[in-house]
Amino acid sequence: MPEVPSYRIFASSQSASTALAEDISQLIRSRDSEERTTVLGLATGNTPIELYKELIRMHRAGLSFRNVVTFNLDEYIGIEREHPESYWQFMHSHLFNHIDINPENIHIPDGMVAADNIESHCSAYENHIEEAGGIDLQVLGIGRNGHIGFNEPGVSPDVATHATDLNQVTINDAAEAFGGAADVPQRAITMGVKTILGAQRIALLAFGSSKADIVERALTSGITSEVPATYLQSHPDTTFFLDQDAGKRLS
Ligand code: F6R
Repeated sequence: MPEVPSYRIFASSQSASTALAEDISQLIRSRDSEERTTVLGLATGNTPIELYKELIRMHRAGLSFRNVVTFNLDEYIGIEREHPESYWQFMHSHLFNHIDINPENIHIPDGMVAADNIESHCSAYENHIEEAGGIDLQVLGIGRNGHIGFNEPGVSPDVATHATDLNQVTINDAAEAFGGAADVPQRAITMGVKTILGAQRIALLAFGSSKADIVERALTSGITSEVPATYLQSHPDTTFFLDQDAGKRLS
């Protein structure tokens, strides 16, 4: 029987983000005390912004990221790092530029890699994760179509980092940021479900009423490729951090 992920419903997105930031800070401090690095898997999007603000606040209060290695979930194909909507740009402006992480420890798929080299780039990404000792804690958001990373409906659970077409719901959700659906990249590189399920611990953040239906399906429907987040039901240590709106369909 699959283990259903646990979930915690917080009074607000801020308190959910603070709780996860505290978990991350404890993890970093405990690994530091063992002189080990901490490997974090990170997400972009609106949902983790408060988490990153909180981590920056904790850094200013003394938390060091010198021994932290990060791997981002995904990046759009065909846009430069400097593009305002690139995930490289997002991560630097929302987190990396404000903490003491070693730039060499930051890993984000390269959306500008030549088409012929995408496959080798993806397998190198997997190798880097393995060489770093695997992901200790993976932060996730969830798309309204149930995607995690850019693992869109229909994806197999056995695929590692790969290039994928974006689903129409994903493109529509990104349209405003890109000034119209026509300008949203059609493809992305993403960690696979297999990569995500390889993390020791997974924390999925979801906030707001627009996520309530998909959160309910992710937690309560059987495992189905149509809702990739249901694959998390087969992971032994996954917690959903929800605000009241995102958790309103759960008893
Ligand atoms: C981002 C990512 C996506 C988002 C999801 C939710 O790196 O992989 O799966 O987590 O699309 O996005 P927001 O948080 O903007 O609702």
